Amino acid sequence: MEAPHSPAPATTLRLTVNSPEQMGELGRRLAKILRPGDLVMLTGELGAGKTTLTRGLGEGLGVRGAVTSPTFVIARVHPSLGDGPPLVHVDAYRLGGGLDEMEDLDLDVSLPDSVIVVEWGDGKVEELSEDRLHVLIHRAVGDTSDEVREVTLRGIGARWAGADLTVLSA
Ligand SMILES: Nc1ncnc2c1ncn2[C@@H]1O[C@H](COP(=O)(O)OP(=O)(O)OP(=O)(O)O)[C@@H](O)[C@H]1O
Ligand SMILES: [Mg+2]
Repeated sequence: MEAPHSPAPATTLRLTVNSPEQMGELGRRLAKILRPGDLVMLTGELGAGKTTLTRGLGEGLGVRGAVTSPTFVIARVHPSLGDGPPLVHVDAYRLGGGLDEMEDLDLDVSLPDSVIVVEWGDGKVEELSEDRLHVLIHRAVGDTSDEVREVTLRGIGARWAGADLTVLSA
């Protein structure tokens, strides 16, 4: 069978990430394809690398402030140092009540104008946007270095239907 001239854009992408540095690089690449209003949901066990990915994303977006694991806050706003969108970094692990609680946070930022990244958001913040990018991070089975991660990205909704995620694996 003949290969199609242009392959269909991938709305799902699986990647192997070999180090924290590579995870940061993935975040920086992701920053290039994200737009204001985009919601990114990060799933993965403790220490999987969700915050490490978000740190790279913050670097790529050129936002102010170090992206860290918010210990005493549920969400942190990182304004852009240029004219890009702010990054809103949410740790939903401690967000018991879901979206209502999120709205009560009074973030003083317009969510439709921001890039929103939520750790542990499954079942809590889907209503923020019909369109979202799910990122699942798993430790690779049998990896003795404990540095290898399998990352699955899956775009949901019209926003991602035509997006080509393969640029992330370049
Ligand atoms: N390939 C990798 N990608 C990301 N982090 C890695 C990788 N290999 C090792 N690490 C290490 O694993 C840890 C990941 O921590 P990080 O805070 O990013 O995880 P997390 O998923 O946000 O955890 P939590 O659920 O506690 O928020 C860091 O210490 C990082 O250096
Ligand atoms: Mg984290």
